[in-house]
Amino acid sequence: MTEGTDTRRETTLGQAAETGPLRADGGPPVPIGVKIGSTRTVLVLPADDGGLQIIRTLTCLASYENPITGETKYAFGDDAAAEYPEKVQFPLRSGLPDAGEQTDRAQQFFDAVADSHDIPAHSVVVYATPASGDQSGQANLRSVIEESRIGDAGIERYPEGLCGSIPAFGDHLEAIDEVFLAVNLGSTSTEFAAYRRGEQLAPYRTGSVTGNEIDREIVNNVENESGSRVHIDINTAREYKEQYADFEAFEPVTETIQQPGGGRHDFTVSWSIMDPVEAYLDGVVSEFTEQFLPQLANNYRRVYRPAIQKQIVLTGGMACVPGLVDAFERRVSDRLDEEITAVAPKRADLAATVGAYRIADRLAH
Ligand SMILES: Nc1ncnc2c1ncn2[C@@H]1O[C@H](COP(=O)(O)OP(=O)(O)OP(=O)(O)O)[C@@H](O)[C@H]1O
Ligand SMILES: [Mg+2]
Repeated sequence: MTEGTDTRRETTLGQAAETGPLRADGGPPVPIGVKIGSTRTVLVLPADDGGLQIIRTLTCLASYENPITGETKYAFGDDAAAEYPEKVQFPLRSGLPDAGEQTDRAQQFFDAVADSHDIPAHSVVVYATPASGDQSGQANLRSVIEESRIGDAGIERYPEGLCGSIPAFGDHLEAIDEVFLAVNLGSTSTEFAAYRRGEQLAPYRTGSVTGNEIDREIVNNVENESGSRVHIDINTAREYKEQYADFEAFEPVTETIQQPGGGRHDFTVSWSIMDPVEAYLDGVVSEFTEQFLPQLANNYRRVYRPAIQKQIVLTGGMACVPGLVDAFERRVSDRLDEEITAVAPKRADLAATVGAYRIADRLAH
């Protein structure tokens, strides 16, 4: 990803930005890129120093009671996950929100993010969405942004796979003029599509290979590998995956557990993390070569040939795993008996929001 020209500061919910976002009192609307993902929410907007402000936080909240007033209160984002691991809720855990509680919780969460970072109301919002045909889920997600106080100058949505590919092609919107294939490696689904000058073709989405499934397997594996001495929760498993998974240089992980009273013991995790990550990539490669490509070739034969000869863009958080892009290239090339190449934007987990921001910037001017 050609990020070189952006000056970036990342903040999470709870941490104050060094400088606030641009104020636009009476001026043109501020462009804002948004992705409300099932694991993380990312917002990108201009910063005062001419660079970009990036807000990245877990899409979660936890309720607690004020012990004095009895009032129900909420903690949000990374703080909620750290402080209330036993009861933190991810309202989009299973994907787009259903009507009712999931949408209400997502709304509370999103409003809290917008408020705590003072996101300007006078703004054009472009948000990235999964390629899901769940119309009511899409409408519920849209309502979360519409009901928030931001986006008073316009709200548009674009596919996450397209938005995520934009930073892989250059500093602007070059991707919109290209014909290419993209794979979006998310928490609850993997999405495949061709893009023809911005138009999405032959989208194929599967929930059978997912980042979340790896986390569940890591929980079970750690229990087995430690002979039932160590139990980790799903968020810890996700952190292990995000921190340690590596197709080229994985090292066994040793952790120390402090016992109450001063005792401590070590445990080492060797196969628990990479076994499911390897199986995951094999699953992605199978879905790509056996499901998506044949469908694309059937329906858009003339798009298929030139597109398969270009770099395939891998986006989404799972594309951050070191070595995944090369391993994907090798495995797909072997299956197809033809050399393919792949590329990921530099911060694949942020790329969809950066792309959405660039579209918003174009719309705002
Ligand atoms: N640095 C990282 N290394 C490895 N995995 C990562 C990293 N960052 C994020 N992930 C994983 O990527 C997944 C999230 O990707 P992404 O943010 O694209 O998903 P999402 O859009 O919220 O999910 P979905 O579209 O399926 O609802 C999670 O499984 C997360 O643990
Ligand atoms: Mg996604």
